Amino acid sequence: MLRFLVWSLALLSVAPLAAQVDKSKPLTKIAFGSCADQGKPLPVYDAVAAAKPDLLLLLGDNIYADLDKTRKVTPAVIQEKYELLAAVPEWQRLKAACPILATWDDHDFGKNDGGAEFEIKDDSQKLFHDFFGTPADSPRRTRKGVYDAHVFGPVGQRVQVILLDTRYFRAGMKTGKGRVIQPYGFIREPYLPSSDPAGAFLGDEQWAWLAEQLQVPAELRLLCSSIQVISEDHPFEKWGNVPAEQARLYKLLKDSKAKGVVILSGDRHLGELSLSTKAIDYPLYDITASGFNQGAKKWREQEPNRYRVSSMPFGDHFGVVTVDWAAADPVVGLQLRDAAGEITLKQNFPISLLVPQKKDPKKDKPEPKDEKRPEGVLTPAEAAKMVGETVTVQFAVKGGRAVNEGKRVFLNSEADFKSKDNFTVLLNQKGMTGPYEKATYDTFKGKTIRATGKVSMYMDAPQLQIDEAASLVVVEPEKK
Ligand SMILES: [Fe+2]
Repeated sequence: MLRFLVWSLALLSVAPLAAQVDKSKPLTKIAFGSCADQGKPLPVYDAVAAAKPDLLLLLGDNIYADLDKTRKVTPAVIQEKYELLAAVPEWQRLKAACPILATWDDHDFGKNDGGAEFEIKDDSQKLFHDFFGTPADSPRRTRKGVYDAHVFGPVGQRVQVILLDTRYFRAGMKTGKGRVIQPYGFIREPYLPSSDPAGAFLGDEQWAWLAEQLQVPAELRLLCSSIQVISEDHPFEKWGNVPAEQARLYKLLKDSKAKGVVILSGDRHLGELSLSTKAIDYPLYDITASGFNQGAKKWREQEPNRYRVSSMPFGDHFGVVTVDWAAADPVVGLQLRDAAGEITLKQNFPISLLVPQKKDPKKDKPEPKDEKRPEGVLTPAEAAKMVGETVTVQFAVKGGRAVNEGKRVFLNSEADFKSKDNFTVLLNQKGMTGPYEKATYDTFKGKTIRATGKVSMYMDAPQLQIDEAASLVVVEPEKK
């Protein structure tokens, strides 16, 4: 009874969230972040409040409901954890200081790395709405999933916030051999890219809803995903685990011609900024803020991520998006700030950068078609997404060199090995037998090769090593 009273009082103090923002006024500072253990101090919340954002976006793991591995997660357990957060003084001050919109990730959903299979997801959804004060008549109360969208500001200065639900509908992931250790001692197999079309991150209804949202006029769109969208190389949860779903999202963004999209993500217990210049028709940023109190407490090596621009691999933090609407070409700023509120990572760019670019036919020449690529043999771009898997890749050798007095030969798919599109096949000394006994770079230069082996990452770039001559075939000279 006492618990019920406390819970009810906690709820009474949460006003309907969107109502706290004057939607007619332009947003100039939006804070965001994820991963808050309600059982530990949350001083970062005071730093967020001190930054005086117009709005705070919570990207998930807003509580950790599943840390006690001896206890089954039930609705009562989830409710108990929300009650604990409601009683945290830093949370109370934060809630009083800025309006909040939220989505969830696995730990507040209730199951580590969980998805559609979670038995009590509907109970969990109700508790989420109760805690965040979703109005009783909101359509979010009756639909499946907690996704949500709002537009703030007048014409010419509109910010659209789109909060995706990457949990409720998510189908099973493909896992490989071995073990990776997650925070809180969760141990599981690494994720591998899955070609299973059932891997639906959003579910049909949410996909259709997102397509509609991207037609809503706005100058800037903050697309919030609990897990990273662009980063592809680490073995944990990310959109890249189902390349077809990631490609579907990019295609939808592209086809919608929606301008102003920036992705905000969480989950990884680190902060970083990723950038893809190929995903859509303008530069696509994904800024990850993950560690209200779950950032690594000491130095931590960066995770592999070929799209990373800069990072904050350790330390608690939160993110801030700033918009200077007064500039002739309004300036968007993406920032991470530490527990003291100091800016630790910052990137500014004009909002006109986020507009679909007209194609330069010279630049976008289609790759020469390789008619003889058998089914199942991958392009460098496809192989680059299969880190950890054994594949066969085929490409024309456009660059490379021999090193270690000719004992190793690098064969590159791009003339510039630093190109983000480059894929390297590395012929090791062990592979230099038979036809390749005296191989040099010139043996392969300009020819099409087909190589079989495990894709790995080296210095943030994908490569495949050849230890046996039979794993490398020269298919034909490149046609002129
Ligand atoms: Fe998570």
